[in-house]
Amino acid sequence: MISKLDLTKNYLVEADNRQFLKKLIELNGSSIIDTIYIDPPYNKNASVSIYKNNYKEDEWTELMENTLNSAKILLKDEGVIYISIDDHELYHLKFICDEIFGSKNFISNLIVINNPQGRNGSSFFRQTHEYCLVYAKNKKECKITSLLTNDVEEVYRGPLLKATGKKDKTREARPNCFYPVLFKDDKLSMIELNEYKNLYNSNENKFNDDFLNNLISKYEGEGYDIILPYTDYRTKELGRWRFDYARFKEAIVKDEIIFSKNSHGITLNKKLYRMSRQKPKTIFDKTAYSTTSGMKALRDLIGLNNFDYPKAPEFIKDLIEINCPQDGVVLDFFAGSGTTAEAVLRSNKEFDCNRKFIICSLNENNLFYDVTKKRLDALKDKYNENYELLKI
Ligand SMILES: C[S@@+](CC[C@H](N)C(=O)[O-])C[C@H]1O[C@@H](n2cnc3c(N)ncnc32)[C@H](O)[C@@H]1O
Repeated sequence: MISKLDLTKNYLVEADNRQFLKKLIELNGSSIIDTIYIDPPYNKNASVSIYKNNYKEDEWTELMENTLNSAKILLKDEGVIYISIDDHELYHLKFICDEIFGSKNFISNLIVINNPQGRNGSSFFRQTHEYCLVYAKNKKECKITSLLTNDVEEVYRGPLLKATGKKDKTREARPNCFYPVLFKDDKLSMIELNEYKNLYNSNENKFNDDFLNNLISKYEGEGYDIILPYTDYRTKELGRWRFDYARFKEAIVKDEIIFSKNSHGITLNKKLYRMSRQKPKTIFDKTAYSTTSGMKALRDLIGLNNFDYPKAPEFIKDLIEINCPQDGVVLDFFAGSGTTAEAVLRSNKEFDCNRKFIICSLNENNLFYDVTKKRLDALKDKYNENYELLKI
C-alpha cells in the first residue's frame, strides 16, 4: 500500500504506468504536475530492443490513450507534455493527442536531430531526426519561456578599465599602470614601449610630464585622440589603468575592450559576454541532443550497460527549462534508463533551482534494477539528492 506522494520529494516507481497514473490521481488528485516528458516505445520491429518496444497496434493505442488521459488529468492548467516519437507512429500519435488534449492545445511538433551523421542502415535517406510533440493542457494558460542559447552571445560593458578604487586609483599608487592610450579610426593602440618606459623615472620616483606632453602633441599631430585615465574628468587629475602596459596591449590584440564616446571623451570598459536567451526554435539541433550523448551520459554514470538508445539528458533538460517553474514537478512514465531524472538534477544544479521528478517504468528484463535504479543511485551520490523507491 502506498500513501499520498510528497511532491517535495523525488520518486522512482516500478509499475505499469497505467496503474501507477490511476493510483497517483487517486492519492494526490488532479492538476499536480508541471511538466511531463515521455519517450514511449516507438512500436517498431526493432529486434535489437530488449525492452518492450513492439506492442500490437491495438495494444499500443490502448496504452497511449489510457496513459495520456491520465496525464491530462495530472497536468496543471499551465503545464506542458512533451512526447518523443518517430515517423512510424507520429501521425497516429498526433491524432490521439488531438483527441485527448484538443487540437487547439497543440503547440508544436519539434524536429530533434538525434543522429547528426544520419543512420547508415536506413533504406533511402539517412535518418537524422525524430520528433517531439508538444501539447499544452490549456494553451491560454501555458507559458513557454526562452532558452539559453550559446550560439548568440551578447556583448556588454564590464568594469571600467581605469582604476576606481578609493585608495589606489592614483597614478602614484602604481606608476607602471599609467600611460596614454591612442585612438584613431575606431581602433585602440599603444604608444611605443620605449616611450612608455620614459613616462616615469623610477630612480627619482617622478613622472616625466614634459615628456608626456610632448608625446601627446606628437600623437595628436598624427591624428590620434589621446585617452588618459583621469580620476575625475573635470579636475583632469591623472589616475591609472587597471592593467600594466603589457596586459593592456594584450587586451587590445584579443579584442577585450569596449569603448564608448561621450561629451567628456572616450570611456574604456572590459568587454564581457553573456549567453542570450531566445525563444526556442522548432528544430532541436545540438551535439548534446544526440543518442551518442545519451549513451555516453549513462555510461559515465554506471559504466557499460545494455540499455538501447537512452535519450540525451541535455535534450530533456532544455525541454524542462522551457516551461517548468523553478520548483516544479516533472513526470516521466516511460522512464527507461531514467534520463529524465538526470535532466532534472542537471537543471537544478545549473540554474540553482529545486525541481522534483517522478519517474515510472516497467521492470523488463530486470532493466529497472540493472540500469534505472543503478543510475538513480549514482545520481544521488553525484548531486546529493535523494529519491524514494515505490513499487506497485
Ligand atoms: C523508449 S524507452 C524510454 C527511454 C528513456 N527515455 C531513456 O532515456 O532511457 C521506453 C521505456 O518504457 C518502458 N515501458 C513500456 N511500457 C510500459 C508501461 N506500460 N509502463 C511503464 N513502462 C513501460 C519500457 O520498459 C522502456 O524502458
